[in-house]
Amino acid sequence: MKIIVNDTAVECKEGELLIDVLINNGIEIPHFCYHQDLGPDGNCRMCMVEIKGEKRPQIACDTFVKENLEVSTKSNRINAVKRSILEFELLNHPVDCPICDQAGECKLQDYYMDYGLYESRLSTAKTKKGKHIDLGSNVMLDQERCVLCMRCVRFTSEITKTGELGVMGRGDHAKIGVAPNRKLNNSYAMNVVELCPVGALTSKDFRFRQRVWFLDSAKSICHGCSRGCNIHIDYNETKYASEKVYRFRSRRNKKINLSFLCDFGRLSYQELNEPFEAISWDAQTVIESLKADKKVALVSPSLSMQQLQAVKEFSENHAIALFSLAYTDENFGDDWLKTKDISANFAGVQDRHISTSQEEFEKSLNNASLVLNFDHKFLKDKAFADKEVIHFSTSSCEHGSVYAIANFAHESGTLINCDGIWQDFYATKYPCEAPRLIELLETLR
Ligand code: SF4
Ligand code: SF4
Ligand code: FES
Repeated sequence: MKIIVNDTAVECKEGELLIDVLINNGIEIPHFCYHQDLGPDGNCRMCMVEIKGEKRPQIACDTFVKENLEVSTKSNRINAVKRSILEFELLNHPVDCPICDQAGECKLQDYYMDYGLYESRLSTAKTKKGKHIDLGSNVMLDQERCVLCMRCVRFTSEITKTGELGVMGRGDHAKIGVAPNRKLNNSYAMNVVELCPVGALTSKDFRFRQRVWFLDSAKSICHGCSRGCNIHIDYNETKYASEKVYRFRSRRNKKINLSFLCDFGRLSYQELNEPFEAISWDAQTVIESLKADKKVALVSPSLSMQQLQAVKEFSENHAIALFSLAYTDENFGDDWLKTKDISANFAGVQDRHISTSQEEFEKSLNNASLVLNFDHKFLKDKAFADKEVIHFSTSSCEHGSVYAIANFAHESGTLINCDGIWQDFYATKYPCEAPRLIELLETLR
């Protein structure tokens, strides 16, 4: 069907919420409490629109579209309503944007710049509330910055169903918090930081470390388990060292992770920054080693399809028995996003027909004089008295010759997730000191 928004026809489907139609068509519609993966709550009134035939402004998050609905999102009347709501939201707000980690990605700040721009008319002291409250699970709360949109409360009550957060008090004393002696404690807790549209909930891990406007971003996929949650890798230069990754943020994918990540995956960016000892690349020495009679290779089930294919072709060309073994952790999986397969591409290993037989691998390993390890965790700390071991690795290894290869933040490629969905990920643009695996294998042809 068709509706008219600001005098322009917009296509939509029956039963859709007006706010979704506006968001999906890139039409500016300020909102705090509505979230596409939490649904409407109707408490902030920021999404007011004028609808032809209706006496009073209506909220777009509680209006279903109907044929030929005529909507205005930016009439003078509507702008005045938004301005009043913002004035109300900011009455007791500390307006401490210069020291707030949300500055630069804060909806309250953005909307004030777009619709507010007024001098405070308040002549009495502001209501004081709690500052830097450690809620647990890396989440810090500043109650004075909160706009009481309830997204964090709804996440813990409706999505994780752990119910740690609630609203205490009434009127201008209402504030978000946990019950006495309780902590925010679930394995998806840090999503509330991303859901919070203002700087009331910040991440202990990220806060005070980098201004968001200095960050660049790459579209990637979490490698923490086989769910393949979509992420943004945010990275930039540090003042005294080379560039590094600062955080993973969720990237919305309706079929996989919606707008959410587990805390383990969210914090797994830290591994990408860890330095480790490796030797400089020496193709000639490796070519000499490849003359060994019996050779076995183990490849990580977290490498991309392109890397697996390159390793497979290389192994066939050099008569190397190639295997991959699954990474499994029964305690990691749950009934939502986390899977007990904690590799990123085991389905890809199967798709490339790489042997995954533990028994066969061990037999080949016993007979081999040369072991090649393509970033597989199982071999990184193993010592072999009677074998030469060469690692192509993204992290430290205890024994053998270790050649560093670029980790997935520097790689573009494809992964297959636990549901058989093929997904591409893209490299960050910061300089990579370690060579890419596929390029190294080219030099060994
Ligand atoms: S802490 Fe943030 S997400 Fe929670 S109610 Fe306040 S503004 Fe909303
Ligand atoms: S569920 Fe798996 S893929 Fe998703 S964020 Fe967690 S570890 Fe990463
Ligand atoms: S977004 Fe509609 S009332 Fe809050």
